[in-house]
Amino acid sequence: MKDIFETIKNVAFEIDHAIKTEDLGYSESENSSGEEQLKLDVQSDLIIEKAFANVSSVKALVSEEKEGVLELSKTGRYTVCYDPLDGSSLVDVNLSVGSIFGIYEGELEGKNLVASAYVVYGPRIELVIATRESKPMLYLAMDSKFKQLGEITMNEKGKLNASGGTQQHWAEHHKTFIDSLFQEGYRLRYSGGMVPDLHQIMLKGGGLFSYPSTTDKPEGKLRQLFEVIPFALMYEQAGAEAIDDRGERLLELVPSHPHDTTPCFFGSKYEIAALKTAYGING
Ligand code: AHG
Repeated sequence: MKDIFETIKNVAFEIDHAIKTEDLGYSESENSSGEEQLKLDVQSDLIIEKAFANVSSVKALVSEEKEGVLELSKTGRYTVCYDPLDGSSLVDVNLSVGSIFGIYEGELEGKNLVASAYVVYGPRIELVIATRESKPMLYLAMDSKFKQLGEITMNEKGKLNASGGTQQHWAEHHKTFIDSLFQEGYRLRYSGGMVPDLHQIMLKGGGLFSYPSTTDKPEGKLRQLFEVIPFALMYEQAGAEAIDDRGERLLELVPSHPHDTTPCFFGSKYEIAALKTAYGING
């Protein structure tokens, strides 16, 4: 997988350059979920597609920005599922955004995710890579190279609460639970970009990120293959947990369609235990 990680490092610099220099307008197309695409979404997708075209270990690519699977090599071993520029609608207000990569071997389902990576484009470029065998490793871009900074381990209990979805559409038990965390002293940290929001919780030791089922989005908003499953590996390998609203591990999800979404909760052990109690989930 070294060739895949090297490719991700290269595309990180290219996408960062595009963010800093390119037109922020809308393209004329929509993505496969019917959302308007920014020119930057399309361009970031192209950068990744081109970069992986000659990586022999990659069998296929699946992009959050496109319908279908792009077959690359019959002899390749891995399928890379990616969200080229998550939170791209935040670029115009100069907040951090990110790219997410899930590396699957075999059918596209949680148990077959072998590694994941994400890039944060903020004041600095950071990269995190995790495998089934390793804790998430943090890298910082310096002088056009990524310097390894160290492993990420989360605490049993954190202080941050990142609660997604429109409150008006939350279920009563979810609202009560989120309020109870604030009553305990948790601080609100939510930018609207999944990558920087989950990254902040990981690096600051812990807390909870939630995107629940809501009345307007019963299956949540975040996509299983490109967003949720790759971050579930990050959190579990950092010593935390990642579950859905039935208490199932997100790493066991079996999407029936590449663009399926799911309610999701990522957090330290304490917050996930509290969530299970609030949601009436046993075990
Ligand atoms: P987009 O790429 O359309 O900006 O969406 C961002 C995603 C994800 O990054 C973030 O966690 C979530 O949408 C925020 O959604 P809400 O605004 O509904 O909380």
